[in-house]
Amino acid sequence: MTIFSRQKNLWITGILFTGIFVLIQVLPVKQVKIIPSTIAIPSPEKIIRPLVVNCKDCHSLNPTLPWYARINPVSFYINNEIEEAREQFIFENWDKYSKLKQLRILEKSLREIKNNEMPPFFYSLVNSEKQLTEGEVQALSDYIDFLSKQTEQHRGWIP
Ligand code: HEC
Repeated sequence: MTIFSRQKNLWITGILFTGIFVLIQVLPVKQVKIIPSTIAIPSPEKIIRPLVVNCKDCHSLNPTLPWYARINPVSFYINNEIEEAREQFIFENWDKYSKLKQLRILEKSLREIKNNEMPPFFYSLVNSEKQLTEGEVQALSDYIDFLSKQTEQHRGWIP
């Protein structure tokens, strides 16, 4: 293959990708419903606030979306994430969840944070500041221990 034809291939690939990118903009931008809301930080505030601050861009009705959330195909990705995250839990509904469900969410959150699964990888790439500190994770862990001891019926149903 001569250098000339390799360059030509590059051009064709470039044009193809640009074409696909432009075409994809014709598809409707996916946009989850944003519902203005203020989250009353659930108590104990010191424990839950770090979760609200770091996780509300997906687990809430009122996320702060970056400008590129309105550009395809990123819009599909971000808005799908928010949709799926909302199915798990949203902070606006915290008080409506049973004590057991709250505990379950906290336990799963601790597990996800420790396994570096939450916040999701791509979100962390652009929002590296959205992380709980070691102290906050430890406080969450202590609080969960305290709660589980308190909730007798809870024993044994979390893997
Ligand atoms: C970029 C969006 C996004 C952010 C930010 C985010 N989550 Fe999630 N979360 C998701 C999605 C999507 C799911 C559902 C799919 C999954 O489980 O991976 C989810 C699911 C969960 C679940 C349920 C997991 C299970 O297996 O049942 C927990 C718990 C959770 N998130 C906690 C958190 C915590 C804690 C934070 C902040 C440290 C956080 N999330 C930040 C998108 C997000």
